[in-house]
Amino acid sequence: MASPIQRRLGWAGGLTGGAALGMAVWASEISSPVQFPENYKQGVHYATVERGNVREEIYTSREAIEAASKNQPLPDGTVIFMEDYRDGKLLRYIAMEKRAGYGDAQPEDVRTGDWAFQSFGPDRRINRSENLARCMACHKPQARNDFVFTYARMQTLGSKQP
Ligand code: HEC
Repeated sequence: MASPIQRRLGWAGGLTGGAALGMAVWASEISSPVQFPENYKQGVHYATVERGNVREEIYTSREAIEAASKNQPLPDGTVIFMEDYRDGKLLRYIAMEKRAGYGDAQPEDVRTGDWAFQSFGPDRRINRSENLARCMACHKPQARNDFVFTYARMQTLGSKQP
């Protein structure tokens, strides 16, 4: 098995995005990876996104929905979780987890607040070949929504709850 250092070098070496991006991946690899949230169905299924042959089912906690309905940042510890289907078949699961202080070690131009990203195969195991710096780069412009594209969907749902 590769040592953590070999793995980190492997990841950084595979990047084309330059030194800053490499450092972000480095930092995320040092802390423990986001684990599969086995109890995600006990949370709130707040969105279904369909586009062409893509279908995404998105879940989060009640606490997150409540915070969004008050226009607040999502609480530390929040997990947002997605089942990602192609042509009706489960392709993968992906997750964002907010960890207090997580982004502190990352350069400002790449960090996505305190969100850590993760990707899992249909077998629920971490997919180590996924380039997590890509997740960050695409979610980064959503900073005003706490880096969450579907924040407004959480707000709508939250405002309907008693
Ligand atoms: C090219 C842009 C892009 C990349 C790369 C990307 N995402 Fe997203 N992500 C989106 C968009 C857009 C949505 C909103 C749902 C939709 O429209 O499909 C989303 C939604 C999500 C959500 C639900 C919460 C939210 O922000 O709405 C999670 C969790 C998520 N992505 C995790 C990841 C992870 C993990 C990766 C990397 C493995 C990743 N994303 C890579 C664009 C991206």
